[in-house]
Parts: sequence; C-alpha cells; structure tokens
Amino acid sequence: MTTYEIIAKKKQGGELSQEEIQQVVDGYVTGDIPDYQMSALLMAICLRSMSDRETADLTMSMAHSGEMMKPDTGGFNVDKHSTGGVGDKTTLIAAPIAASCGVYVPKMSGRGLGHTGGTIDKLESIPGFRTELSYERFTDILRKNGLAVAGQSGSLVPADKKIYALRNATATVDSIPLICSSIMSKKIATGADGIVLDVKVGDGAFMKTAEDAEKLAELMVRAGRLAGRKCSALLTDMSKPLGHSVGNSLEVIEAIEALKGNAPKDLWEVSLALASEMISIAGLGTAEECRVMAEKAVASGKALERLSKMIELQGGDPGVIDDYGLFASPKKKKEIFADRDGFITGISCEKTGLISLSLGAGRSKKEDDVDSSAGIVFDRTVGDEVCKGDRLAVLYTSSECDLEGIAADFAGVFRFGDKTECPEEKNIIKIIKGY
Ligand code: URA
Repeated sequence: MTTYEIIAKKKQGGELSQEEIQQVVDGYVTGDIPDYQMSALLMAICLRSMSDRETADLTMSMAHSGEMMKPDTGGFNVDKHSTGGVGDKTTLIAAPIAASCGVYVPKMSGRGLGHTGGTIDKLESIPGFRTELSYERFTDILRKNGLAVAGQSGSLVPADKKIYALRNATATVDSIPLICSSIMSKKIATGADGIVLDVKVGDGAFMKTAEDAEKLAELMVRAGRLAGRKCSALLTDMSKPLGHSVGNSLEVIEAIEALKGNAPKDLWEVSLALASEMISIAGLGTAEECRVMAEKAVASGKALERLSKMIELQGGDPGVIDDYGLFASPKKKKEIFADRDGFITGISCEKTGLISLSLGAGRSKKEDDVDSSAGIVFDRTVGDEVCKGDRLAVLYTSSECDLEGIAADFAGVFRFGDKTECPEEKNIIKIIKGY
C-alpha cells in the first residue's frame, strides 16, 4: 500500500495492519515519508482513533525504531513514569525507597515542558549533578546503588522524537492512542521488566477527567503486557499541586524532607503507593508487605542513603542532604497574604504551573534555561481555614521577571468559600494492576 492509501484508509475509519503501521514508522524515521503526509495521518488518527491492536503495533514499531536497552543488573528492573504534573517530585522519593528494598530502578527522565516540571531539571539543581551518562556508566551506577537517573539518550526511540515534535506543531498531541504509544515505546525501549505508571488526573494534568485517565491507563497497561512487561497504573489526583513546593531546587528539598519522614500528606500517600507498587511488581511481597517495607525504608534512613549515594555517584554534592544552603539561593521573594477570611476550596494547578514557569522555573521553548531557585512554596492548602492577613505562599525567583505583576496574578490561583465547599481529599483514585 502507498502512504497515500494508508492515510485514506485511516481517514475512512479503517484499521491499519501491523505491516502498514511498520511501513509508516520506518518511512518517517528514514525521511522517505515527508512531514505533510505524517501530519495528515496523525490528524486522521486523532479524529478516527485506533483499535487496541493498532495502538500496540504502533507502540512496538516505535520502540524498535532505535536502540533497545537492557541494563544488566542481574535483578528485576522497574521503571516508573508520570504523565506529568505540578509539584510532582514522586520519582525522587519512590525510586530511592524501591531501590533500598532491592528493586533496580533504571530511570530515563525528561525535562519540564509547558506548565509541568521534569525530573532532570529538578536533579540538575543539585550542584555538580550530571544527567548525561554513557550507557556503561549508567549501568555501573545502577549495579552499585540500584538507582540511576539519566536524560533520554538520543538513540532511543527516534520515531517518538520526530513524531512528538510534529504532534506539538499540528494540534495532534491530545490523542489517547498517540499518547500511549509515545510513552510506552520509550518505557519498552529502556528495557524495564516492570513498569509502574502514574496517570495524573485533574486541571494540572493532560487528562482532565477520570474517565479519560482510566482509558489511557488501561491502554498503556495492555500495551506493556503485550510487550511482555509487568505493568500497572495508578490514577492520582492533580487537581491541586502535589505537596507544598513547586520549582526545581524547592522540590528536591521537599523530596529530601519526605525521605526524612516529613512529607505533606498528599505527597506521602502518592509516593508511598508508587514505591509499594514498584516493590510489589518486582515480586518482593504482597501489597501490604511492600507498603510496610517502603515505610521502614524511610524510617530507617535507608531510602535517604540511596538518594545521597546516587547524588554522589552522578557527580553531585551529597552535602545538600543536610545543608540546603548549598543550592543556588533565589535573589528575590514575595510573600502572598490572604485578603479575606474563609476556607481554601481550590488551588488552580495549571495556573500554579504557569506562574512557576513565569518565575523562571520552567521553559516556554525547549532551548530556554531554567532558574533552579525559582518557584513557589505554599503555606496553606485546600481545606485549610484562613484569616485575612495569613500568609498563603511565598514566590521565589532569580530571574528578571515582573515579580509584582506575577504576584498579583498568583492571588487568582486560590478559590475561597465555606467549609462545605471544600472537596474531599482523594489522592489515589484507582490502581489498575496488569499482572
Ligand atoms: N508524554 C509523552 O512522552 N508523550 C506524550 O504523548 C504525552 C506525554
């Protein structure tokens, strides 16, 4: 079939064969298929969707478009992936916990883009920390410490790199089969035996409703299973920022505090659930046993030791664990106070992410630099009663931004009302086990 015929078939709602999908992925990576034809096919997929079988075939064709990794640890390798959120530092908490319980965690992470943060930017706020590691060094650190976090290598899933950039420019990002194949092709190519997915739901996430998040989660779990991997997904709340801090070094500090036993409730519940699932998927115990192992790993300080060792092995200064003054300090700060009495009934998550971005904590374009000291620390959260004049949050920045203007805008992230309008806290919405 020609590319033209494949596009026409999908436009009419037809189901593409494995050979047709493979032909398109191969042709696009080699450059034989031009952007305009791939764009037309992506739009047809957006409008007509794909069957589960087509999605699985697309995932596998993309995964095999480049290098396939298989870090040789001699143990069970578990990857964890979040679909992206605001204040989401759970990797920095769950991964050291799982590693200290005997799981190997080879983690390829991304940078923040848009209003969501990325683990690589967070870790790079630690003085000296390197995320560009050769495959040999990555495997060596993994064997020594059970945990390594690196940026995605250029040779991994080139099909996703090209297709994702095209989707970004052609309004074809928000398609569940395309999101599934993009995420799962990368997870499969990194060679994890087990994959734990954190699918975020709410105004700060890609998936705004629990129904869409569940559809995406089930599709990803099935794609993982078809590829022979153990896979599970947690649907977790992203209707307000996770934890108290948003911004790179601020989130690393909050993660360190969590490993010292001082996490806010929402952050702790999500991190504990993810860590327990990572231990459970590795076959190290029942769900309850794994939860107890995770709790003990924090109480004993073993999880914090793993994080400290990882920082050292990746060239960073492990002194940051006990001395937060080693992080770059922000040049300016602005305190935000309540202008009324009442209960906080909501905090806009997407708006918080965008404000953090304008303070310098994120990037609007891929090539922008991030201000590692910038961000927001909330004193109060949803459900809290406040009085006029109480401090709600502090904004930090070292960037040349309009801090007064941003602060005025920030006041709009809070919604106030009476106690009955406060939503019930539900941090873990659902767990989908695919093994
Ligand atoms: N994250 C990805 O890696 N790909 C998508 O399509 C969406 C989120």
